[in-house]
Amino acid sequence: MNSSLLTSLVILCCIINIATSLDAALETVSKHGRLSVSGTQLMDSHGQPVQLKGMSLFWSVWMPYYWNRATVDSIHSACHSNIVRAAMAIEYEGYLDHPDVEMQRMETIIEAAIANDIYVIVDWHDWNGEKHLSQAKDFFDKISKKYGSYPNILYETYNEPIDISWSAIVKPYHLSVISTIRSNDPDNVILLGVPHYDQELDQAADDPITGQNNIMYTLHFYANENKQWLRDRAQNVIRQGLPIFVSEYGTCDGSGNGSIDAAETQLWYNWLDQNHMSYVNWALSDKDESASSQIAGTPPEQACQDRYLTESGRIVVAQNKK
Ligand SMILES: *[C@@H]1O[C@H](CO)[C@@H](O)[C@H](O)[C@H]1NC(C)=O
Repeated sequence: MNSSLLTSLVILCCIINIATSLDAALETVSKHGRLSVSGTQLMDSHGQPVQLKGMSLFWSVWMPYYWNRATVDSIHSACHSNIVRAAMAIEYEGYLDHPDVEMQRMETIIEAAIANDIYVIVDWHDWNGEKHLSQAKDFFDKISKKYGSYPNILYETYNEPIDISWSAIVKPYHLSVISTIRSNDPDNVILLGVPHYDQELDQAADDPITGQNNIMYTLHFYANENKQWLRDRAQNVIRQGLPIFVSEYGTCDGSGNGSIDAAETQLWYNWLDQNHMSYVNWALSDKDESASSQIAGTPPEQACQDRYLTESGRIVVAQNKK
């Protein structure tokens, strides 16, 4: 075999390998262990690329009836997920006003994820994180002390910065929260939001955080609004070396409602799988809007069972299973 043929075969094998996504329910923490970031790729403890696929819970304050063990059991087994995102509200009567209530909800989800052998994103679900830095540091200090030794944990320090400067405001915020987490937990992955609802990745690529291990930047997309232009932007920053994690995506509009664009969602899945990236759907919710994966009144024990899935839920669960 000549060397160019060999090279082609090796490339072909890797494309096939990388483009194949798996039933996420089977890709558990005991199989993949502690995560790390190598270049732009999320890796498992065996030094192999790993892809996480799963569900985000809805805002804790508005859907507390899904913040329990039964829902996380369903997310793992019936929604075919190896990750759950705990979107803990900060404003809107959330953590700032009721830290004990919200902490209890968060711990319930973390412990349910550990019991299910899946990963969990501890999400500081804030749009104004820079105004609540001291509360965020205190929260992540407590969480990383208590749970930092578990390989299940990923931290998301700031859900979606809106239209503020990366270099002047968002980056200093992240550096401060990272230092708090790293004083307790040296290695679990930390996910970092970027301006304009986690879409202006280029600002971060131009001025990345250096000298830190196991950090990734979050990309959020909603397929009925964010199309090829956003994939092109993301592909560019990957070329620049920025590791990306999709901690939230929807099949519809960014508002959470509007039309579902199944074809565009499929283009996103193709691109994500080719890049072996992780993605988490918004949301495990039964609200009357397009982004909800469950019909109204779905009991936690039945979440993601066929008869309780919405149009969006059917797309998402089929993809998680692939
Ligand atoms: C979403 O849109 C549908 C159809 O227009 C509407 O009936 C529903 O009330 C909307 N949901 C919310 C939460 O606004």
